[in-house]
Amino acid sequence: MNAELRVAKVRAGAERVLRGNWREGHRRDGVPYAFTCPATPRYRHQWYWDSCFHAIAWLQFDPARAREELRTLLRSGRLDGFIPHTAFWDRPAGWRRAPFYGTHSTFGNEATATIQTPLIALAWERVASASTDDDPGFATEALPQLRLHYDWLAYERDVDGDGLLTIIHPDESGLDDSPKYDDLFGWMRHDRPGFFWLIERYRRLGYDARRITERYEEHVEDVLVNVFYALSLRALARLDDEHGERFAIRAAQTEQALLDRCYDERRGLFFDLAGRDERPVAISTWSSLAPLALSSLPDELRRRLVEEQLLHPGRYGARYGIPSVSMEEPSFRPGFQMWRCWRGPSWVNATWLLVPAMRELGYEAEAGAIVASLERAALRGGFREYYNPVTGHGLAARDFGFATLLVDLAPGAAAVYASDDGSMIET
Ligand code: GLC
Repeated sequence: MNAELRVAKVRAGAERVLRGNWREGHRRDGVPYAFTCPATPRYRHQWYWDSCFHAIAWLQFDPARAREELRTLLRSGRLDGFIPHTAFWDRPAGWRRAPFYGTHSTFGNEATATIQTPLIALAWERVASASTDDDPGFATEALPQLRLHYDWLAYERDVDGDGLLTIIHPDESGLDDSPKYDDLFGWMRHDRPGFFWLIERYRRLGYDARRITERYEEHVEDVLVNVFYALSLRALARLDDEHGERFAIRAAQTEQALLDRCYDERRGLFFDLAGRDERPVAISTWSSLAPLALSSLPDELRRRLVEEQLLHPGRYGARYGIPSVSMEEPSFRPGFQMWRCWRGPSWVNATWLLVPAMRELGYEAEAGAIVASLERAALRGGFREYYNPVTGHGLAARDFGFATLLVDLAPGAAAVYASDDGSMIET
């Protein structure tokens, strides 16, 4: 099949998935909602990062829905600026799964008390730039809430003030069972029965990151979360004429901290910092490559990530997409495993984050080949939650929302996130 036909078929399929997963209505208390659920029946609710990705994919088909999706996400938050990991709009989480959501109580909550990788400002800027004709006010209508959200994150989650946000629960990054959390969360990790206990413990402490980090070891300064945080702060700085500078300064601090504290020069990878003494977690996952998306980092370092990792056939240079864990890691598992999904399979959002940076650095052909491999996998197995990087088989949920991000990556597509020279970084 030629490339043009492939791209056209992917677009048609993506539109069908997004339209099929669209949900709108009113919560029990009358608050209206409109969003795309990730996949039914397993994922019926609104997830923070999924919604941001959905909004970006909707731009290709119906920008008004992209705007509604982000407005709904904002509305799921609290007045203090907190926005939840998951919002249960139409009905509370089902009894079987409710105990595993990071909520305040076992039943009846409208949303979790945990966060997820906070990229709403990044998505907002993308959607705003596609709304200049039909809804020009969108760019500024939510600035007060967006400021509050990023201030909440800085105040509540940068507990030690070093520029890096802390997550207290593995699901907060979106990478639930990634092997990078195995040692730290141990018997309480996402794919072990003790996960239930981790949630109970945090319920008792009200999900207060200060109390949790003072008392316990199980918390991480996560590279992926902080890369999206920095990209979002930059986006907010560009959207906000009045207070933009403060967010640009914060972004530069986060980028600098990633470089100074998370970069392992010898291995050419970025590692999370775990626990109270901030031990680097030397496990190579796609999160270790995420800083490639920060154009403020030195090109030489970013090129190393591409050449030594993404294009390396024994590490991330797989046949289909970008594996979520380096193929060199002993924990790498490419296929389906019950309760485990971030231990090897290729997810479309990893490609969405990394491919534009490859293009920016001149690796156009290699970037195009990664996108085409996932397009072929999607045409063969549908829009799936993830794909086996070795065989291309589609795995887990079907008609999965953020697999439609592929439409934002067609060859020659504009950079998916605006680049910024971020000249405040020192190397
Ligand atoms: C899984 C994924 C998470 C995603 C959620 C909804 O829990 O690990 O990243 O947000 O499903 O799709």
